Amino acid sequence: MDAKITAAETAELLGITLQGVHKQLKTSGLAYEKSQNRVYFGHETAKYLFKIPFKQKIAAIQIVKGGTGKTSLTHSIAIRANLYGARVLCIDLDQQGNLTQAFQINPEENPVMIDVLKENIDIKDAIINFSPGLDIIPSRIENAVLDSTLMIGRYALDRVYKDKLETLKKHYDLIILDCPPALGQSVAAATLASDVIIAPVTPEKFCLSGLKITSQELSSLENNYHKKIPMRVVLNKFDSRTSLSHEVLSTLIKHPIYGENIYKSYIRASQEFPNAIAKGQSIFDSLKSTIAKEDIDLLTREILEIKEPSTKRVEISLGRLEEAVA
Ligand SMILES: Nc1ncnc2c1ncn2[C@@H]1O[C@H](COP(=O)(O)OP(=O)(O)OP(=O)(O)O)[C@@H](O)[C@H]1O
Ligand SMILES: [Mg+2]
Repeated sequence: MDAKITAAETAELLGITLQGVHKQLKTSGLAYEKSQNRVYFGHETAKYLFKIPFKQKIAAIQIVKGGTGKTSLTHSIAIRANLYGARVLCIDLDQQGNLTQAFQINPEENPVMIDVLKENIDIKDAIINFSPGLDIIPSRIENAVLDSTLMIGRYALDRVYKDKLETLKKHYDLIILDCPPALGQSVAAATLASDVIIAPVTPEKFCLSGLKITSQELSSLENNYHKKIPMRVVLNKFDSRTSLSHEVLSTLIKHPIYGENIYKSYIRASQEFPNAIAKGQSIFDSLKSTIAKEDIDLLTREILEIKEPSTKRVEISLGRLEEAVA
């Protein structure tokens, strides 16, 4: 087992005692492991214990600015959602294939999105199972021609990805698309196939301009295709020691459009993100408590709208934005 959740954490999240979790593990014959006196488990056991009635959702992670954490957040949110029992599909749409590398998948022999379009391969045949309840459609450099293929082939942008995802939807609670830092046809098709756009913003000079362009592009797609797609903003790489972090957060909160759409959970700068990827792991592979885990947990709960059974930590999350600006 790689990504894991501890019995202690589960007890806290469920608002029950640790003994209560241990008892359920034993009486229901659920799979678990033990290390240094700590009990932990993966997706299947978590799914049984949490019993969360997920609202099916397709989310595209995108912003035209590079390096804001789109791939890191896709990877971590997917794994955390899976550890709450969600059945998750990640789709790597970026020809850089960073998400594919994060999952340590070699995409060479596997169909990717461009093959699904050009060779008429069934999208189901592009899916790789990574771990129980967690699948990925990988990417490789050939996806660089997704934009031109969609343009020349005169595909209906509002249907091309949406129709394909429609056939997969019933198998997943969360489908999450990692987009490249671009605004081409492929990102537009991903937008039009999604229920929500999640834009990670970092406290950097040009990031808010990137957000503005992404938001304008979304508005024009909404107008052209007569539909509404909510965009939510998440602040990533927040560092309470820098004034730029506070400035960007404050600008976002006061902004007439973004202000109402910013996630209450921001993600602090943490070396855990690059370290985990460098080790070929996720931030949830270790049993240590880290700020990266804490932040991603709160964000995942917001995205999945997990309110019950535990409300304690969500309340903490709601107070965090105001605290950070103060
Ligand atoms: N909260 C964080 N704290 C510290 N480092 C982070 C954090 N989030 C992401 N990073 C690091 O920032 C770098 C860029 O992240 P990532 O690749 O996820 O961005 P991206 O938006 O997907 O980039 P691209 O636009 O190239 O696709 C990576 O080295 C990643 O480990
Ligand atoms: Mg990326």
